[in-house]
Amino acid sequence: MLPSQAPFPATRFRRLRASPAVRALVQETALGPADFIWPVFVRDGDGVVEPVPSMPGVNRLSVDKVVEAAHEAAALGIPAICLFPYTDPALKTEDCAEAWNPQNLSNTATRAIKHAVPGLAVMTDVALDPYNIHGHDGFVEDGEIVNDRTVEALVKQALSQAEAGADIIGPSDMMDGRIGAMRSALESAGHHNVLLLSYAAKYASAFYGPFRDAVGASGALKGDKKTYQMEPGNSDEAMRLIARDLQEGADMVMVKPGMPYLDICRRAKDMFGAPTFAYQVSGEYAMLAGAGERGWVDGDKVMLESLTSFKRAGCDGVLTYFAPAAARLLNG
Ligand code: PBG
Repeated sequence: MLPSQAPFPATRFRRLRASPAVRALVQETALGPADFIWPVFVRDGDGVVEPVPSMPGVNRLSVDKVVEAAHEAAALGIPAICLFPYTDPALKTEDCAEAWNPQNLSNTATRAIKHAVPGLAVMTDVALDPYNIHGHDGFVEDGEIVNDRTVEALVKQALSQAEAGADIIGPSDMMDGRIGAMRSALESAGHHNVLLLSYAAKYASAFYGPFRDAVGASGALKGDKKTYQMEPGNSDEAMRLIARDLQEGADMVMVKPGMPYLDICRRAKDMFGAPTFAYQVSGEYAMLAGAGERGWVDGDKVMLESLTSFKRAGCDGVLTYFAPAAARLLNG
């Protein structure tokens, strides 16, 4: 107890919990639709809504349906949507050229959303895994995920996304030097206001499993991502990575996954004070949504409680597949 606190019974903490009105007055952390970035999976076709089996309630959407989702997000007060393409395996090549094709799924969806719902921020993903026959975020040479050649490709990918109208570029690849390279390329090309939300502290996590199914990368992936994503036992390293990315020109930083790494979120916010986000990833979503579906937990309540924990841990916002469902509940 803090020294300023009078002993019982002068202090009774239950006084502050005795009614909904008083509880609302003293609530420290509030959650609202403006805290969410909604990740959506984009696929080809027209009028397609294809369920992702390991993520109950999440679908792969064709571009026209993504535009409908964008309208829904705006109506719910969700400020941003984040696009992840499910790429036709026939378009996956050794050189990953589809990643910077101006007409690829991600760029096509970005243009369609910015045309239909210009006020909604569009975030895009920079990494080669949706386009790579090896399922890795970078080029593979003799079994090694090479850094510098990958960064050159990521810069091309980021520029094509900015060209298509992306507001926020999210490098999720964990290569070294990519934030600085992207920032200077964006500045040179006149994209002064395009934001970089760096996946600065991204762990080599088993919680990404359902996502890899959703984007069709799990079959392709050979080996693991431990030479570029972080060891789950590390915390100081996360601070060094965040410091580095902010110095290279990141506007915002991300911790990923979310719930098992809330200590990293808190530490990052306290240490840097930068706009800090967490990604409540696919495996976290699957656990909560799956248990909710079976009636093992109250799905709505664990959803809101889990999302509140990110705000309490110091995050400014959270990428979550729950975004529309949570926003609907929060809007009453
Ligand atoms: C890959 C990427 C991943 C996620 C976002 N971008 C998976 C990975 O690193 O293998 C995971 C998101 C989720 O699990 O919801 N660039």
